[in-house]
Parts: sequence; C-alpha cells; structure tokens
Amino acid sequence: MMIAPSTDPIRSIHEIIEYAENIKHDADFLHCDIMDGRFVENKTYSYVGVASINEKTLIALDVHLMVSEPSKDIDKYLQAGANILTVHYEAYVDKKKLIKDLKKIRQSHTLSGLSIKPQTPVSEILPYLSYTDVVLVMSVEPGKSGQKFLDETYQKVAQLNKIRSDYNVNFKIEVDGGINPLVSEKLKQCGADILVSGSYVYSSEDKITAISSLR
Ligand code: DX5
Ligand code: ZN
Repeated sequence: MMIAPSTDPIRSIHEIIEYAENIKHDADFLHCDIMDGRFVENKTYSYVGVASINEKTLIALDVHLMVSEPSKDIDKYLQAGANILTVHYEAYVDKKKLIKDLKKIRQSHTLSGLSIKPQTPVSEILPYLSYTDVVLVMSVEPGKSGQKFLDETYQKVAQLNKIRSDYNVNFKIEVDGGINPLVSEKLKQCGADILVSGSYVYSSEDKITAISSLR
C-alpha cells in the first residue's frame, strides 16, 4: 500500500516544505490539494506553490486539482513538477477535453489521474479508464480535510478493482478523505493501492508511525 499525506491541513508553503522533509523517507507521495474557490469553496496555493515545493524537496508530488477549469493550467502544473496530475471528472462539460488533457499529462511522462466525487458512479468514467493511470475515489466531499469517511467508498473501490481485472487495464486505485487505520485495512482488501491522509497523519504526534499504521 502506498501512502500520500496531504497538504490540505497546512497553511503556508514554508510549513508544507518542512512537513515534506519530515516524512519524505516514509511516505510515497506528497498529496498537493489545489482548490480554486469555485469548484470547492476553499482556495489554496496553485502551480507556483507546487513549483517551489518541488524545488525544495525530493518527495514525489501527487497533485489533486479541485478546480473548475483544469484545462487552463494543466501545462503549468506539468512544468511545476507533478508526478501524478489528477483532474476531476465533474469539472469537464466537454468530455473530449478530458480525454485531451489525460493524453497530454501522459505525454509529459506524468501519471494521469481522474477523480470522482462521492456522488459520481464508477460507471460514468468507464469510457476514460484507458487514458487514466490513477483513479482517485473521493471518500468525502472534496473541499476540506477532517470529514468522516463515507462507507459507500468500499463498494466503488471493489468495483474498480473488478473492472481492471476483467478488462485487463492497469490503473491504480487511490482513495482520499477520512482515512485512518480503521478504514485502511478494508480498503486494502477491496483493492486500493494509494491512500491519501490529511488530518490523521498531520495531527499525529508521531507521523512516521501514523504513516506505517495505514499501510
Ligand atoms: C479533501 C482533500 C483531501 C483532504 C483529506 O478535499 O482532497 O486530500 O486533505 O484530508 P482528511 O484525510 O483529513 O480527510
Ligand atoms: Zn485530495
């Protein structure tokens, strides 16, 4: 199981870099939550922040774009050094644009991520899975950390796991929101590969033990 602690509970880029330095040998990715105040209410740093995190630390970056017009800034996030770049399915009115963006991400040797909110069924993203390296299943409403894990998520993860073996496709399954050691075990059994953790790891006194307790 891979673990990606998120930047959402942290206010400044300076502190994010400090956090990344502390966990870089134990975590697999730093999950960078980007919000634009439109797709979700909160607003965070953007590609400039991602670029400075990338300059100052060596941890791989898993960038989660919770923005309403991802196409506009994809190039900038690629240049900023994203290793996984994830867009939201719900942000695209024109689904041809979604395919174009997923292809563009892959062309720059970054892993393409596609995320679905809790109310979006897995069946809606079937046509896009062959362009997707990572499916990010939201297990809370995107927008803030510290919410309760939604139990419907297990079934979505199991469904994606079955799809990838039935159709012999190779995407990874990532889960984001409300993750703690009580839910991580069952997510693993359902087929999850990457778990994001905001408040659980960040608020633990011993962050290294917290990370290993999710694996
Ligand atoms: C939610 C973000 C998550 C968040 C998770 O909008 O996408 O990455 O930081 O935080 P926890 O683990 O506290 O739910
Ligand atoms: Zn996230």
